[in-house]
Amino acid sequence: MTLARKPLVSTPEAQADWREWRVADWSGLSDPGARSFEVGEGDWPFRGFVLRWQDALRAYANVCPHRSHPLDTPVDEFFSADGALLRCGSHGALFVPESGECLIGPCAGRRLLALPSRIEGDAVFVKAPADLQTAIELVGSS
Ligand code: FES
Repeated sequence: MTLARKPLVSTPEAQADWREWRVADWSGLSDPGARSFEVGEGDWPFRGFVLRWQDALRAYANVCPHRSHPLDTPVDEFFSADGALLRCGSHGALFVPESGECLIGPCAGRRLLALPSRIEGDAVFVKAPADLQTAIELVGSS
């Protein structure tokens, strides 16, 4: 599949107060596979998900550009029936795994917020804000 657009990423300035969090074990992710996580504190902790896709790591905010719902309804089910795209369970939007771009659905053309991520040993680390509102505002500008 061709990447239509680059992932939506925030600026280094916007990430200045983001923290790096350990969110998963690489060996615990199938390929393809995805797992949701929550980090931070308070009433609205940040929610995201890590994705193993063609043996590469990606991470996104778990915030649909349509209505800011989590994509995985039910929990940790992120893929379309054929496993080729990410799917939002709320209203069926379909996203390209590599770029987070919505191809089909009520937010077509908009993008998931990509998060810096890395693997160290078997640990998966993601850099993210500690609150959900930051992600919703960034996705709102996608
Ligand atoms: S909230 Fe995701 S498609 Fe509507």
